[in-house]
Amino acid sequence: MLESRAIRFHEPIRLNGKEVYDLVKNSPPLDENSMYCNFLQCEHFSDTSVCAKQGDTLVGFISAYLLPNNNNTLFIWQVAISKEARGQGLALKMIEHLLERLHLKNVCHIETTITHENQSSWRLFEKVASALSCEIHSSEWLNKETHFQSQHSTEMLVKIGPFQTQH
Ligand SMILES: CC(C)(COP(=O)(O)OP(=O)(O)OC[C@H]1O[C@@H](n2cnc3c(N)ncnc32)[C@H](O)[C@@H]1OP(=O)(O)O)[C@@H](O)C(=O)NCCC(=O)NCCS
Repeated sequence: MLESRAIRFHEPIRLNGKEVYDLVKNSPPLDENSMYCNFLQCEHFSDTSVCAKQGDTLVGFISAYLLPNNNNTLFIWQVAISKEARGQGLALKMIEHLLERLHLKNVCHIETTITHENQSSWRLFEKVASALSCEIHSSEWLNKETHFQSQHSTEMLVKIGPFQTQH
């Protein structure tokens, strides 16, 4: 267990790229990214992404972006919480933190993708919908055979909203 020091949230910076890479790599079933991809997330998507730090340790990371053709929808790309920091609702708090950012005040929909077997992720996003008092719907998006040629489980597209945030 991590000692109970406060966890702080901050926008990622380029220097976080390597520790984000390590956290994602150690958070199955997330797909491991190239380290280069994580540097891009930290630099180019920092406005819409968040790091959670306990002391100097990265204990959580969410990469997200606004849909290029619809800037009221936040697409959550990956959520990773270190094993030691799980079980305290940290990912939900990080999503709520993102929605409190002033430059995201127009966001009223969240989208993400989840595989059928990722129960903790389903539960997390059901809790997000419940916290935002709105609907959650899912439909098949990337099919195991058609899109992944059996090399990856089917990804369901999950849509949450519309919701209002307190700004
Ligand atoms: C998904 C994840 C980010 C959630 O981390 P977290 O914020 O610490 O979540 P918690 O452990 O507090 O659990 C959140 C909810 O999911 C439930 N949950 C956790 N693991 C579960 C499991 N294996 N099966 C079913 N429910 C589960 C918890 O009980 C809790 O619900 P509750 O409050 O109603 O009891 C974390 O488990 C993780 O990093 N997993 C690996 C990477 C991953 O799958 N990311 C999601 C892809 S988007």
